[in-house]
Amino acid sequence: MTLHDLLVFDSRDALVAAAAERIAALLGTISGRGAVCLTGGSTIVPVYQALARRPLREKIPVARIDWFFGDERFVPAGHALSNAAQAQEALLGPLGVRPERIHAMPTHAATPQAAADAYAATLAAYHGAERLAPDRPLFDLVLLGMGADGHVASLFPGQPGVEEGRRWVVGVDEAGHPPAVPRVSLTLPALASSRALLFIVAGPDKRPALSRVLAGDDLPAARVRSAGPVLWLMDRAAAPTTRIE
Ligand code: 6PG
Repeated sequence: MTLHDLLVFDSRDALVAAAAERIAALLGTISGRGAVCLTGGSTIVPVYQALARRPLREKIPVARIDWFFGDERFVPAGHALSNAAQAQEALLGPLGVRPERIHAMPTHAATPQAAADAYAATLAAYHGAERLAPDRPLFDLVLLGMGADGHVASLFPGQPGVEEGRRWVVGVDEAGHPPAVPRVSLTLPALASSRALLFIVAGPDKRPALSRVLAGDDLPAARVRSAGPVLWLMDRAAAPTTRIE
């Protein structure tokens, strides 16, 4: 991973402010219809809140963007663990995003895999194609977090979803990381199908996995490679300590 892919900030607050500014700037470049893939987890919440406030909200072409999710906990809509409910409260509601522009994963389906298959159909219908092509990415921007175990979305180390190279969405019956509820997750090819990808990682608990990712270890987060730039934004607490030999 070359250095220009990483930006380290002295504090979590500085990371949040910089991440929100960069996301708003990226969204401001969307000229026609745009698609954004949101992440769950806790790190992203203050970033969503900053995006929903002036001045950044004024840079976002809300009427032209459809909002998708990189993964979801298999819980009822509106549940406290729902990534869609979290994004609705912190970002989409305050931005006034129309419900038809929000594409939550259908966690009312019978099983996580049924939800995954339905969501894959939603993505294909929106995309107008059943195949991913580097010159026609699914998304303009994918936001990602990373777990302390190196997972991305709900693709956990050692689980089959990490190896999925054909399907765009998979059901995950047992999460390899809290909260221990089943999940629905985009796969690596679908997550990578974007003009730009942004990891936002904070906190000392992430440093061991981040060190391994940057050392090239085969963790799920390290396997997110795309035609577009993959930018890692992190705070100093999460950043690996590099020894100058
Ligand atoms: C989820 C997320 C997950 C998250 C990481 C980091 O559904 O929980 O999509 O991939 O981004 O686990 O979470 P934190 O930001 O809470 O550390």
